[in-house]
Amino acid sequence: MHLFILAAAALLGLSAAQHNPHTKHGRTAMVHLFEWRWADIAAECERFLAPSGYAGVQISPPHENIVINSPWRPWWERYQPTSYNLCSRSGNEHELRDMISRCNNVGVNIYVDAVVNHMCGASGGEGSHSVCGSWFSANRKEFPTIPFTHWDFNDHKCRTGSGNIENYGDADQVRDCRLVGLLDLAMEKDYVRGKVADYLNKLIDMGVAGFRVDACKHMWPGDLSAVYGRMHNLNTTWFSGGSRPFVFQEVIDLGGEPITSREYFHLGRVTEFKYGAKLGTIFRKWNGEKLSYTKSWGEGWGFMPEGNALVFVDNHDNQRGHGAGGASIVTFWDPKLHKMAVAYMLAHPYGVARVMSSFRWDRHFVNGKDQNDWMGPPSHGNGVTKPVPINSDQTCGDGWVCEHRWRQIKNMAVFRNVVNGQPHANWWDNQSNQVAFGRGNRGFIVFNNDDWNLDVTLNTGMPGGAYCDVISGQKDGGGCTGKLIQVGGDGRAHFKISNRDEDTFVAIHAESKL
Ligand SMILES: *[C@@H]1O[C@H](CO)[C@@H](O)[C@H](O)[C@H]1NC(C)=O
Ligand SMILES: *[C@@H]1O[C@H](CO)[C@@H](O)[C@H](O)[C@H]1NC(C)=O
Repeated sequence: MHLFILAAAALLGLSAAQHNPHTKHGRTAMVHLFEWRWADIAAECERFLAPSGYAGVQISPPHENIVINSPWRPWWERYQPTSYNLCSRSGNEHELRDMISRCNNVGVNIYVDAVVNHMCGASGGEGSHSVCGSWFSANRKEFPTIPFTHWDFNDHKCRTGSGNIENYGDADQVRDCRLVGLLDLAMEKDYVRGKVADYLNKLIDMGVAGFRVDACKHMWPGDLSAVYGRMHNLNTTWFSGGSRPFVFQEVIDLGGEPITSREYFHLGRVTEFKYGAKLGTIFRKWNGEKLSYTKSWGEGWGFMPEGNALVFVDNHDNQRGHGAGGASIVTFWDPKLHKMAVAYMLAHPYGVARVMSSFRWDRHFVNGKDQNDWMGPPSHGNGVTKPVPINSDQTCGDGWVCEHRWRQIKNMAVFRNVVNGQPHANWWDNQSNQVAFGRGNRGFIVFNNDDWNLDVTLNTGMPGGAYCDVISGQKDGGGCTGKLIQVGGDGRAHFKISNRDEDTFVAIHAESKL
């Protein structure tokens, strides 16, 4: 028995290493700067993310990819590698290195979106139509820049007629056949594992803090374990010695398939897709869901163990109807609901949280399906991605949405830092869509998602004093640009939230005290 416990503890200790995001200065939330250029991310780390308390950035895939002109370039071409050269629409290797250093120097971690399940699509043709001109042949399965040849792909293992995944009920197919026609790497081969590990290690040595690993459902956990086992420790210029890369794995598990998130828990964290799908349903009040039901939010809702979860309200796939979650996902297209849902996530202790930062596209629905869900980032006619201009009111221009800069979201990223480590406390609800909860004695948040006013006195658990609501405004010098909340010596405070307010929630924390 004792031996068993010791062995289990040792295993846990080893594997828990890749679950740690290695955030600095007590910062907690990361932001996905989807399709941003490296030069813009470097500037954003210095001028906004570090001063606002963001912990890290998930960047778009930095490897070279196929150029798809159909006739305009879709965002998803970046999920079709043609070489592991660090050259993409976001910039070249020099710009990438500069960005990683500059972000690290202001305490903002970089997490790389790693696409290693596959190369480009089987119908990708042959030639030098890669972003930086590397030659490849999808027809002959040759990628000489790496090099991969036809021996390095899985087709001999796949047992479907089309060579594609046809049935998600068959785990062998899901791992050994082509995901929507993408050439599937044979990661059981030592040679392939070595090339993938070299790619990851180059980035680790440059100073990244870890990886969002794409399409993990389509790779065998044992193969991933072998690749992760070859990863270097993080660069000691910015991280303490012996730090393992943070790994968070994309596994879409909404239940009902033989492959589950659980198979990947020992390797790193896993994206909890149930989180955003459920939260969207709750804030939209669909299927009879109510905010009051979230008293047991987290594992109580059948989500994965909290130490395994990477949580988000929307991601780059499901905000445009790709991947999982469907219509319930709340995105920047529903700004009022989106701000509330993101605030709920950032106030709640469950999981490592990621905020989405998007670009706009021309949505065009035909029979409920967006015909333009493929559209790439704001770009010039020649396909070059546009820089992110910052307006005088601190919003972004040229189609970049910058949700992470919205006052309500930025201030909740700070809230999450201020309450870090404090327990979920002082829950209140009206058995409908008005709820409130605190985090120890460091912060308190109140939501009114009902169609009537909220007017109630609640125990906040906070020390007495005058606090500035960080949703309707924020502290400004000695004053407050938003609602003032008076907490009495007994910790109780009166809250009034009209259902017609611009934002129907209020949040205070230890550092918003006047
Ligand atoms: C860590 O980063 C520094 C600064 O960029 C670099 O000089 C050093 O070579 C890196 N370490 C490794 C092991 O690559
Ligand atoms: C919800 O709360 C409001 C007061 O904040 C109250 O008037 C209303 O009756 C409550 N609804 C339910 C179902 O308890």
